[in-house]
Amino acid sequence: MPIVTRNGFSTAGPIDAVSLEAPEAAEAETVLVSSEADVERLLARNSPVSLVQIPFRNSHDGVGYSLARLLRNRGYTGRIRARGDIISDQFRYALACGFDEVEISEALAARQPEEHWLGDIAPARSYRDKIQKPAIEAPASVFAETVTRVTHYTDRLFSFRITRPASFRFRAGEFVMIGLPDAGRPVYRAYSIASPAWDEEIEFFSIKVPDGALSSKLAHIRVGDSIWMKKKPTGTLVLDALRPGKRLWMFSTGTGFAPFASLIRDPETYEKFDKVIVTHTCRQVAELKYGFDCVAGVREDPLIGEFAGDKLVHYPSTTREESRTMGRITTLIETGQLFSDLGVPALSSVTDRVMICGSSEMLADVKALCERFGLAEGSNSKPADFVIEKAFVG
Ligand code: A2P
Repeated sequence: MPIVTRNGFSTAGPIDAVSLEAPEAAEAETVLVSSEADVERLLARNSPVSLVQIPFRNSHDGVGYSLARLLRNRGYTGRIRARGDIISDQFRYALACGFDEVEISEALAARQPEEHWLGDIAPARSYRDKIQKPAIEAPASVFAETVTRVTHYTDRLFSFRITRPASFRFRAGEFVMIGLPDAGRPVYRAYSIASPAWDEEIEFFSIKVPDGALSSKLAHIRVGDSIWMKKKPTGTLVLDALRPGKRLWMFSTGTGFAPFASLIRDPETYEKFDKVIVTHTCRQVAELKYGFDCVAGVREDPLIGEFAGDKLVHYPSTTREESRTMGRITTLIETGQLFSDLGVPALSSVTDRVMICGSSEMLADVKALCERFGLAEGSNSKPADFVIEKAFVG
């Protein structure tokens, strides 16, 4: 069977893994672990195990990742192999959870060749290998970071990830100024951080404005390129700027989803609210994909998925292409469709807190609606019922 490791493809003969429940498992060097109980039994064994195999029933199966993490957290140092439905997109995550290798079928190896599997992880290795003095010296006020991944969603939208400086701290929902290396006067723009505070990289979700001073250039960045990021994050779309409440609404259009991508991946959001409802309105269905992927990521993550549980509600809509829910968020609020679709009462200053991120017209319109419902605008220094991000350009 083809085996994928950090170094690429290899072939291994079939190994008879013994389930830990089987009597002969006490002596076996290769065992199959499929539940937390098995992990405990494995750790309690006297004789060492050299290879643990963890089965994946389907590509949405998150249990295997938790088991690998648990084994590593509990000090298991042998090899861990994933078997079953894992695809190349998940390889990076599997490695991060403690897997050493993945056993795949011949059919999958043919469909997803070696470069699919290594494409995602190779940059992470090579940028460290070739850390070199950047061609242009970065000013003292900025971090010079390296692009580790770029994903294009449509001809207008893309996301990218960069390395994270060890000293860089931020609160979920904040933004930073980013720019490209320039010996002259670099152009900086405010970008909401889309990744959660616990992530080892920083993620951004960006629009491509053909004549935009920065975004037109950013749209061409590639893995390995350098990005300048100012050292001080800031912003008002933070949990600290809201009074305690029951429901948290996050209204976004287009790339305004970015700060919420960070907040919905932050356990604190779920500690503070019983319901977390993130709405995302775009012109076309394809523009909603980043949001769908983020929410799916939350649900699949063994840790955040547990916090989010059924608290997280995703409410996408489109305005210029047929989809399940059509209409601007303002219309959906005004007609009451939003509330009836979700089976919750309309906004109230007693229970509801709101964050808004989108174009300046959208901000103004949603803000007016919030005020009509009796909600008051808050800030870092004066927490209240709703907050908007004025620095956002999207
Ligand atoms: P519409 O298609 O009716 O303009 P954009 O891509 O222009 O940034 O817009 C993103 C989404 O935000 C679109 O679905 C757009 O709807 C919607 N939108 C634009 N302006 C407003 C507004 N003032 N209030 C609510 N939604 C808006």
